[in-house]
Amino acid sequence: MLFNTHQTLKQIVTLASKELEQADLFFGHGTDNPWDEACWLVETLVQRSGAKQIDAEMKLDEVVLEQIQSLLSKRSNEKIPLAYLLNEAWFADLPFYVDEKVIIPRSPIAELIKNCFKSIVKQEPKTILDLCCGSGCIGLASAMVFPESTVVLADLSVEALQVAAINSEKLELRSRVTLQPSDLFTDIEGCFDLIVSNPPYVGEHEYLNLPDEYKHEPALALLSEHNGLAIPIEILRQAANYLNEDGILLLEVGNSWQALADIYPDAPFLWLEFENGGEGILALSYMQLRHYKF
Ligand SMILES: C[S@@+](CC[C@H](N)C(=O)[O-])C[C@H]1O[C@@H](n2cnc3c(N)ncnc32)[C@H](O)[C@@H]1O
Repeated sequence: MLFNTHQTLKQIVTLASKELEQADLFFGHGTDNPWDEACWLVETLVQRSGAKQIDAEMKLDEVVLEQIQSLLSKRSNEKIPLAYLLNEAWFADLPFYVDEKVIIPRSPIAELIKNCFKSIVKQEPKTILDLCCGSGCIGLASAMVFPESTVVLADLSVEALQVAAINSEKLELRSRVTLQPSDLFTDIEGCFDLIVSNPPYVGEHEYLNLPDEYKHEPALALLSEHNGLAIPIEILRQAANYLNEDGILLLEVGNSWQALADIYPDAPFLWLEFENGGEGILALSYMQLRHYKF
């Protein structure tokens, strides 16, 4: 074991960080570097052990050290993203339960939510659809910033909806949330002020070349045919039928954005910009979706 009860928390984090650095890992499922990941791992397990406060000079007991070592080894050897090992991911400053039934929340849409979709929506949306909801992070975080809203969380995966249900309980949003199994819009009823969607948009070739960490995530959550664009295009074709007249669609297509823009060079896509990094999220109004033939 790397650790002992004489070391301080700061020394333990430093050792854990070095171990992660040497393990040929990919960072991008909650942190982007070994130090932040080591801090997240150690602090979470110390907190869960019941520590009232955490400081850099504190010493840890044997049980906590063994837990840290065990998760560190799994992270390094099996390349399991830390969020799955801790069953926790942070999105828009909110904690979400996650397991391997859902992808780990990381959409740049978090920044838009924290800004209450400023300059994208004219007035607070009352009805929101999170299509392809996974853990429910986008719809639930939106429900938190729009306390008058009701939210439908829809996903093809019934297992993902089980995770979304856990999160809507955890955030005490159950009374404003409906969980809807649906293949895209097939079982969606009614119209919404806001449709937000981070659907699968990774093509098969790109998928095969992704780092091992992504292989722990459900392939259903990532893969989409036609170089990733089949599902996003289907959403563009149908969204107007499910939007109110002042409604807005926000759709994430990630690094497939250029390919989409090339297919529809005249489309009135508004590509959003992000202070904290991220790209490939477009906004379209109901009117634009009604008039443009995708
Ligand atoms: C990229 S994940 C996004 C999850 C979540 N919105 C987030 O940002 O973390 C895409 C989700 O779409 C779901 N999905 C895949 N195909 C679908 C379909 N045809 N209809 C509805 N949901 C689908 C997957 O189960 C997965 O949960």
